[in-house]
Amino acid sequence: MTRAISLHDVSKSYTRGTRVVDGLSLDIAPGEFLVLLGPSGCGKSTVLRMIAGLEEIDEGELLLDGERANDWQPAARDIAMVFQNFALYPSMTSRDNIGFPLRIEDRGADPGPRVTATARMLGVEDLLDRYPSQLSGGERQRIAMGRAIARHASAFLMDEPLSNLDAKLRNRLRAEIAQLTRELGVTTVYVTHDQAEAMSLGDRVAVLRGGVLQQVGTPREVYALPRNVFVAAFIGVPRINLLQGVVRAPLDGAMTIGLGKQALRLPEPLSLDHRLLRVQQGREVIVGLRSEVVRIADRDSARPGEALITGLVEHVEFQGHEILVHFNTGSRPAVVPELEAPRPAARPPRRRRREGPGMLDRLRGRAGAALRAGPVVVLEDLEDPEDPPGSPASDTAPSGVRLPGDLVVRTTPDVRLHHGMQVPLLVDLDRVFVFDQDGDRICPSPDRLPDLDA
Ligand SMILES: Nc1ncnc2c1ncn2[C@@H]1O[C@H](COP(=O)(O)OP(=O)(O)O)[C@@H](O)[C@H]1O
Ligand SMILES: [Mg+2]
Repeated sequence: MTRAISLHDVSKSYTRGTRVVDGLSLDIAPGEFLVLLGPSGCGKSTVLRMIAGLEEIDEGELLLDGERANDWQPAARDIAMVFQNFALYPSMTSRDNIGFPLRIEDRGADPGPRVTATARMLGVEDLLDRYPSQLSGGERQRIAMGRAIARHASAFLMDEPLSNLDAKLRNRLRAEIAQLTRELGVTTVYVTHDQAEAMSLGDRVAVLRGGVLQQVGTPREVYALPRNVFVAAFIGVPRINLLQGVVRAPLDGAMTIGLGKQALRLPEPLSLDHRLLRVQQGREVIVGLRSEVVRIADRDSARPGEALITGLVEHVEFQGHEILVHFNTGSRPAVVPELEAPRPAARPPRRRRREGPGMLDRLRGRAGAALRAGPVVVLEDLEDPEDPPGSPASDTAPSGVRLPGDLVVRTTPDVRLHHGMQVPLLVDLDRVFVFDQDGDRICPSPDRLPDLDA
């Protein structure tokens, strides 16, 4: 029997006045694999521990299969937990570690058959007579997993179970956990701060920030329609480009979103979403551009719904299967406070040698086809993007680290680009996010229903 787990308006404080979990409501269906995702310290472990009964719930309700379970003893909840630091008994063999909870549960029963079956499922049969000190990290974590699985608990809670393992092992175990929990069909709440892990494992992902639920949805939903700028920035690699913009809706001209020295011209007739933007006239907004919504192509090849801007190549990051191009577009990056990891600089920040106009002209000359792109907007003072006097761009990164460029674009590895080229860029406006100054998404409209799996 697998459980439905519901949290209704649950809050928790360790010290008076600071809620580490604040009004959390979540309904987890029987058999569902739900990932709780958020930066470290946002309350993920606290949520798990409240579900397990290891931590008291201050306010709100925990329901297990619809029954109020706030005051149930941990054992009565029939939930197994896997921790980050492989909690194995050092003086017991793997066999005894896996069998231990079974013996506690039913003192008369022989745990042998269940232990063997579990070990077979996890591929650790040959490790059953070893002690934890004779196991590698990955093997230990498999045994810890075995201990949770052998019990046939009605739900699993996993608290960053892979974070102590090296990257290769993590990927392998990640796939194993996904397969195993699917086969067992047991409700699982899995905690991680790693968005890639969350996206690859979860039926749904719940994003927490400072104890407050930001959004819950399928991996596709939270990626394609993030409710706010925090979710948009937390999910996706490379990190979404976030730029300060301003909506301009003149009575006698095209509506645009100004991005520093350039502007995105909204195609006419305006879409419903873009019409809704009109009320933002004159206001500052945050524009979110994922690296795949911008493509390097000249104006002549623009499709309906694409807007043209220009970028100066700052840095080319070769990734093998693709290239990430860092452009300077003369816009001003928006910074999301509290994000654990701001976009890392692709190279160590260093002051570039000042290049005379002759050098820049030569570089422009080499741009070839890309430059014959119709009326490209020339960005006047791109000559010295390192240090534009009084430029607001100097606050690009919270740490004071200067990032190369303000716009990262993903492209195929055959595209030949180099530092200093000026390149036309087409922006797919249907997939551009606009957030208000509070960080809430206003475009696409917040009540746009996700029809993503269609
Ligand atoms: N037992 C405790 N006593 C006091 N503060 C705690 C305790 N456990 C966690 N906290 C605090 O509560 C917040 C949330 O912690 P936690 O749930 O462990 O976050 P996460 O698992 O997301 O990293 C943190 O600020 C942490 O310092
Ligand atoms: Mg934790």
